[in-house]
Amino acid sequence: MKIAVFGATGGTGRSLVEQALAQGHQVTALVRHPAVVHLRHPQFTLFEGDAQDSRAVTKVIDGVDVVACILGLAKPQGTVISDATRTICQAMNEAGVRRLVAVTVMGLGDSKDNFDPVAKLFVRVFLKKGMEDRARQEEVITSSRLDYTLVRPSRLVDGAKTDRYSAGADVRAGISSKLTRADLASYVLQQLQTTTGSGARAVCVVGS
Ligand SMILES: NC(=O)c1ccc[n+]([C@@H]2O[C@H](COP(=O)([O-])OP(=O)(O)OC[C@H]3O[C@@H](n4cnc5c(N)ncnc54)[C@H](OP(=O)(O)O)[C@@H]3O)[C@@H](O)[C@H]2O)c1
Repeated sequence: MKIAVFGATGGTGRSLVEQALAQGHQVTALVRHPAVVHLRHPQFTLFEGDAQDSRAVTKVIDGVDVVACILGLAKPQGTVISDATRTICQAMNEAGVRRLVAVTVMGLGDSKDNFDPVAKLFVRVFLKKGMEDRARQEEVITSSRLDYTLVRPSRLVDGAKTDRYSAGADVRAGISSKLTRADLASYVLQQLQTTTGSGARAVCVVGS
């Protein structure tokens, strides 16, 4: 399978690229700063550019089977993530690529009650600004005609793949819940290899 990855310099994106290559897939990625990517692999093609730039995005998507969107910003910047996601969705539609797995954030949409009250308060007080653009991002995806899955993780930590996590629309999390980026990447890779069919299109993922 040929996979396009947006967000390949983040912890989850890096792990996804490594796991996908280890499974024999071909990977293309668009990154803003290629110098930080040290991975070299015959099945891995790196492009330089911003995911808000439709020309750059189109190049990365050319000929792929599926797309992983793992964009994020430590400090929210206006509508960067939703704008970039719109660019990706448009490029996918134009190229006839249907399958999109996008990592967003637990607490959005119908997952707002999946957090316990303390975690919910934390998200409302400290993460409100970033959540606004992530809600817009989800709207862009859900109003697209793509075969999408929204993957909404709880708090992420670095660490090895454990395969000990729960995924589902009703999975719950508290303030101490955490998920390794390697486990999240593994889940995204599994999702890329399925179609949604009648399954849930928005899934929470929480480490156990
Ligand atoms: N941290 C948490 O606890 C937590 C909790 C729930 C959900 N999430 C979400 O989970 C996902 C993975 O998180 P993570 O911590 O592993 O990764 P991350 O550090 O948030 O990485 C985000 C990636 O997005 C890229 N990016 C942002 N804007 C871009 C643009 N305009 N064009 C191209 N690339 C762009 C970044 O590139 P640069 O290297 O160039 O900046 C980076 O590769 C993210 O969507 C994050 O928001 C995180």
